[in-house]
Amino acid sequence: MTAPASLLVVGSGIAGLYAAVVAAERGHEVRLLTKDLLADSNTWYAQGGLSAVGPGGAAAGDTVDAHVEDTLRAGARLNDPRAVRALCGGAWAHVERLAALGAAFDADGRLPDRSPAFLLGLEGAHTHPRILRAGGDATGRAIARSLIAACRRLESEGRLAIDEESFVESLVLDAGRVTGARVLAGSRAPHARRTVGADAVLLATGGIGRLYPSTTNPAGATGDGAALAWEAGAVIADAEFVQFHPTLVPEGPFMVSEAVRGEGAVLLDGHGVRFMPAVHPDAELAPRDVVARAIHRARAETGAVYLDATAVERSRGAGFLARRFPAITARLAELGHDLAARPVPVAEAAHYWMGGVAADAFGRTTVPGLLAAGETACTGVHGANRLASNSLLEGLVYGWAAVQGLSAGTGSGTGSGTVPPGDEEAGEAGGPTAAHGLASVTGLDTAPGEQPADLAALHGVTGSALAVEREAGQLEVAAKQLAQWGAPPVGRAGHELANLLTLGRVVAAAALARTDSLGAHHRTDFPLPPAPWASPAHDHIPARPRFARRGLVKTGS
Ligand code: SIN
Repeated sequence: MTAPASLLVVGSGIAGLYAAVVAAERGHEVRLLTKDLLADSNTWYAQGGLSAVGPGGAAAGDTVDAHVEDTLRAGARLNDPRAVRALCGGAWAHVERLAALGAAFDADGRLPDRSPAFLLGLEGAHTHPRILRAGGDATGRAIARSLIAACRRLESEGRLAIDEESFVESLVLDAGRVTGARVLAGSRAPHARRTVGADAVLLATGGIGRLYPSTTNPAGATGDGAALAWEAGAVIADAEFVQFHPTLVPEGPFMVSEAVRGEGAVLLDGHGVRFMPAVHPDAELAPRDVVARAIHRARAETGAVYLDATAVERSRGAGFLARRFPAITARLAELGHDLAARPVPVAEAAHYWMGGVAADAFGRTTVPGLLAAGETACTGVHGANRLASNSLLEGLVYGWAAVQGLSAGTGSGTGSGTVPPGDEEAGEAGGPTAAHGLASVTGLDTAPGEQPADLAALHGVTGSALAVEREAGQLEVAAKQLAQWGAPPVGRAGHELANLLTLGRVVAAAALARTDSLGAHHRTDFPLPPAPWASPAHDHIPARPRFARRGLVKTGS
């Protein structure tokens, strides 16, 4: 019998932590690397929650099918339907696993079989309340804590190795196959350097929020995994789709969860007028891309936008908001805002990358030995715009699926496209890459330019040209400027800036290539057709550009 494959997991958000736990429990030799501490991840800060439909968490009339349809509708139907079914259909098993690991989702009693009856929240573009939460608005922290505790337990049993403050500067390639990573160790320069070998490397480093001047993401969101994959020759897909969260309070900055709008809060423009009902039939609970764009325009036209939850407090009784959203209420108070008493100024901000390293249903990328999961990957589940609270779910389902593939002996090859097992309905379908296909390569050069860059200069470009509204002229100027800049990949900070520059070039090229407005990618020179969200027949999707280091990969889909 051959020994189970060894796995190097890079990143300690939900996808990386969960994959490490599952792989270690299955007897794989696992090492988990993270560039800061285990708790330093986007997951830790997730407020809203985890969307899932299952026996202990289904609102009246809600079904997995409804969750699938909402995900497709929010994603402007660019999603891979089979990947979406695997995501939504596979959700509940992972909720139960998390609960067993100690994640205490808020519940209001017990079902007849004595399992908890979870409280369900509503967020934008969901037709039913189906968002599980913990601690009211501290869902990510509760999940991360339970997974970190599981990792530490496995570490103490000698079944998992954990290296914090370990930054991956490059992947080791042997005859086109990834066989490990070169690591800078320690929090400060000079870093010790070492090489770690493994049968497969799983990249789960989160997204690219720090590409933008205004973001909900923590400082570590510098796209490291996607840039590593790119340098190794992997295909990046759907790079143009960057989601902006509607409600960042610029002081702080601090994101206020969409769940606040789910409880009934509204958006007012600078004149105090509610504007969303005129924009979309679902008003403040329209898909996030629609709300973010409307906020962008209202701010441009009236100078400000406010989130107004005062009527919620009046109708639900004094103290409701503080009980329902304890962490948000406390943080806003520190910033001088009282959500219950007065509207709070908000703005749209970069939040989530639907694009990423093209990965199939087992997380396999186009490079042998290289896996990707969570926000780092593009599996086709989110389409052109992610449905709220589907990202923690994706981290679970696809972090787990990557290990499934590895255990089955298929997981370190290149993507071939099979939906994660575990969901009967999904199991009969093909996978993301099977659905969308990959084709030939033409030239996108991301070699560093001569001019030295810094983060402020980069933000000057991305914050306008790659924002919620884009246009050819600005994109062309941005692409040229980005091509001229270079950052020596020296030390961790140098690598992070170089990673952002590389991915900035990829996003700009993808945004230029998509001469259409779809979901989160909005070209003012290619306006949307009227009310595309109203009809499930919105299927006029043009071919999806995909990119590889050597260039644009045209697809046949
Ligand atoms: C939020 O709580 O508004 C963010 C949830 C998400 O991005 O899915």
